[in-house]
Amino acid sequence: MTYVRNTWYVAAWSHEIAVDQPLATRVLNEPIVMWRDSTGRLAALADRCLHRLAPLSLGRCQGETLRCRYHGWLYDHAGRLIEIPGQAQMPASGLQVRVYPVVERYGWVWVWIGEPARANAELIPPLVGIGHPDYEFDYGQLDYAAEARLITDNLLDLSHVSFLHTESFRMSEIWARARPKLTEQERGIRSERWVRNEGPMGELNATNRVDTYFRCDFFIPGVLLMSARAYPVGTAAALSDAQPPQFSSMEEGFTTQAVTPMTDRTARYFYMMGWPRGRVDQASRDATRVIYEKGFAEDQRMIEAQQRSIDASPAARFMSSSADQGVVLFNRLVEKLARQELAQ
Ligand code: FES
Ligand SMILES: [Fe+2]
Repeated sequence: MTYVRNTWYVAAWSHEIAVDQPLATRVLNEPIVMWRDSTGRLAALADRCLHRLAPLSLGRCQGETLRCRYHGWLYDHAGRLIEIPGQAQMPASGLQVRVYPVVERYGWVWVWIGEPARANAELIPPLVGIGHPDYEFDYGQLDYAAEARLITDNLLDLSHVSFLHTESFRMSEIWARARPKLTEQERGIRSERWVRNEGPMGELNATNRVDTYFRCDFFIPGVLLMSARAYPVGTAAALSDAQPPQFSSMEEGFTTQAVTPMTDRTARYFYMMGWPRGRVDQASRDATRVIYEKGFAEDQRMIEAQQRSIDASPAARFMSSSADQGVVLFNRLVEKLARQELAQ
């Protein structure tokens, strides 16, 4: 699998990592421990003690340090070994476990997997997430037994909505038959489309019809912000399918999501649904969440089955259609950035 390394991956929710409670995860096969010291400062280290390679995530926090629970070697937040119990003389200086640059933003913990010297917080995509004063959020996550790439491919080709999400989003075949407008960006792609004369999400055959404008900004390494806004039927035709003037993506709810490759065959899918603060009642939010989570379960069932099918026939190849254009553009960008990294 090809993935960009010099980029930020969502490794956890900020609120998951409490003081004194180290949390283990994996990103691109690398075991990582994230922990918060007594000052609230967050650190991410290779989850492997230098002594006998026991996981540091089983260790205990002591003030601003982390002590391996096996034989007690002590580390600081930069991963430096600062004490071996009972041994006055420390080994040669500079001994440390690998440290990963880490940033908390949008309610997530972002970890930089590539060369630490290249870590640049400005490369965290411009999303809207937990902590934004104007919005409130519902959120959750799913663990997949599938490669992350299959999940990002799914999110980049929404023609599947018409066929896979018949029990959840319940939208017509316009999703499968019309093609979105795609715009390449430096580290992602934007996909926009009008869906004309449809009922609200989850209400196929509804009589209260609208034209809906959808926009999805999809960023390296697999992070997206998707929003939609409804307009009176006829708006799309009047605008010749152009972007509505003053399109503010955030007024009617949106979703922010991240797909993180954990191993070659596992991935974690983080999602939040954002709402303008105080403007949407809890019952509507709950109803939307139920539809979304039903949809996510439909995706997961299909993608995990797809992974098993792929693994059963490793020589078989994908065949693309015009609906895969977003997938092709995005994966080309991933390949390009990954090639640049190798060349550097
Ligand atoms: S394995 Fe960590 S101190 Fe021995
Ligand atoms: Fe889906």
